[in-house]
Amino acid sequence: MAGIKERQLQRLQPLIFKLESCMVILGISAYYHDSAAVLLKDGVLVGACQEERFTRVKHDPSLPIRSVKWLLSEAKLTLDDVDQVVFYEKPLLKFERILATGVAYFPWSWRIFPAQMHAWLGDKLWMQSNILKGLNIPKQKLLFSEHHLSHASSAFFPSPFEKAAILTIDGVGEWATTGLWQGNGNTVTPIAEIRYPHSLGMFYSSITAHLGFAVNSGEYKVMGMAAFGTPIFMEQMEELLILHPDGSFTLNLDYFQYHLHPREPMTSKAVDLLGDKRHPASEFDPLSEDPILRETSLHFANIAASAQRRLEQALLHLLKHAKDQTGEENLCLAGGVALNASANRVIAESGLFENVWAQPAAGDAGGALGAALWAWHMLHDNQERIQQRVDLGRSWEREETKMFFNDFGLQFTDQEANLVEQASEDLAEGKIVAWMQGRFEWGPRALGYRSILADPSNKKTADTINEMVKFRELFRPFAPMCLEKEASVYFDIPKASLPMLPYMLCTVGVREEKREEIPAVTHVDGSARLQLINEDNHPMMNSLLQAFKEKTGLPILLNTSFNMKGDAMVSSPVDAVATFRQSNIDVMYIDGFRIERSLKGKTNN
Ligand SMILES: [Fe+2]
Repeated sequence: MAGIKERQLQRLQPLIFKLESCMVILGISAYYHDSAAVLLKDGVLVGACQEERFTRVKHDPSLPIRSVKWLLSEAKLTLDDVDQVVFYEKPLLKFERILATGVAYFPWSWRIFPAQMHAWLGDKLWMQSNILKGLNIPKQKLLFSEHHLSHASSAFFPSPFEKAAILTIDGVGEWATTGLWQGNGNTVTPIAEIRYPHSLGMFYSSITAHLGFAVNSGEYKVMGMAAFGTPIFMEQMEELLILHPDGSFTLNLDYFQYHLHPREPMTSKAVDLLGDKRHPASEFDPLSEDPILRETSLHFANIAASAQRRLEQALLHLLKHAKDQTGEENLCLAGGVALNASANRVIAESGLFENVWAQPAAGDAGGALGAALWAWHMLHDNQERIQQRVDLGRSWEREETKMFFNDFGLQFTDQEANLVEQASEDLAEGKIVAWMQGRFEWGPRALGYRSILADPSNKKTADTINEMVKFRELFRPFAPMCLEKEASVYFDIPKASLPMLPYMLCTVGVREEKREEIPAVTHVDGSARLQLINEDNHPMMNSLLQAFKEKTGLPILLNTSFNMKGDAMVSSPVDAVATFRQSNIDVMYIDGFRIERSLKGKTNN
């Protein structure tokens, strides 16, 4: 492991000299999924956004041209003003891994290897020239970070800690799938890594596919499903994922073939071990009165619960080692696996670390932020750390929105002066409220800038939102947002989880005596993916929750993302109106304007 740091420093040395005068840094992630761009101007975060928010293509992997364009206009800059463009990984190292894996496993890799070569030789291998051409920048401005270094930087540099252990966990980057790092001031230092094909992200994604969901997007559903099950397949999971005394893990490759097969991540031996795969279109209802449907559903829920438990065991195993190696009190997390809110709860409750923070955009989109911060802190040797906000996306001018409403004949009222009062009244009356205010969020969660809000005390509200608005699976839970000062009345909150709670990255337990009061946001296992709101982190939502509490006694609202199933979250007033028209949302607020469902399409007088 000692060699990694030396190699990294050797590569950085010539660049440190060149970059002393850089002030404007553009971070980019692209070409796999969830592409994103981030702009740092003199160490200040101008903005950060995923390309899907502009193109409306969910998980859009393309070069984030639209995001870059918006970021530059927001900063009143042009590409000529950008000193450095930092890509979040090293494409050639990634290609080396694909090539080496294909050759090492030949002839068993014959199914996947030609497809990978086609993709890489056709387009991906020319990533550098594609970026240069796409952004129209000279070669000397482009720099490449490393995948897990970008994740580690995104986890530590925006965190509230001066020193911390860092764990990066995902499917795979160039070679690494898991990284242990130490963060101190303006530096992250690698300690150990685990390499492909052994990967916790791939383990969970393979189970996701076995349970009939799409890899890279259905993982949340497995987490939701797990709450209905009992982990009775632990023996099988221990056979699949092996923990070693040195703190590492391996996957038993008799059961996994994601490195060999483009569509089937698990072998037929895994089917012998776990039973048949779940068909994607099959119904899932573990509470059904039909005994056959109930039993089948419970079988898959038990697999989900067992895989979730095994993932948590593996994370604790890694983290015990991390604690021994670093002796740190604080922990930072990033990489797609860090979005697993149930696992984050287990980590927070383990007592291994006093405080746990995770990057809100923990997946590959967050790599754009990490790449920019790596350059800012480690190449430019800047000490001052940024403060992580989440409203980092674009906002729209109210006048522009008003003109759009008028052009499309939408009847609206301007409630800017009494927005909180009117919206809290709608919510207290049981209406489903679409809420678009200010800049949109960074990361995959709706955090009160592009949200659908409702009263959490009525279970039917959740079913209505699932069936009539979001058109998604009934077993998936909704999340509560709660006034921070009132939260301990309703939730059991482990102290270590507090830094993660403004970002909805960790589940907590709903107090048993309170579960009936907030059934729409209490999952079947008594957990909730809580978001804590206070005056500092979200003043507008703080006021809305306060007003809702005055009317109903509850300092809590149901919060889910403002989009339809399969769509990216809305960004602009146009997206918001389109989604509102297709759904059964009762009322919509856009930057203080109010539109009612009964008045959809009617002209303002
Ligand atoms: Fe990643």
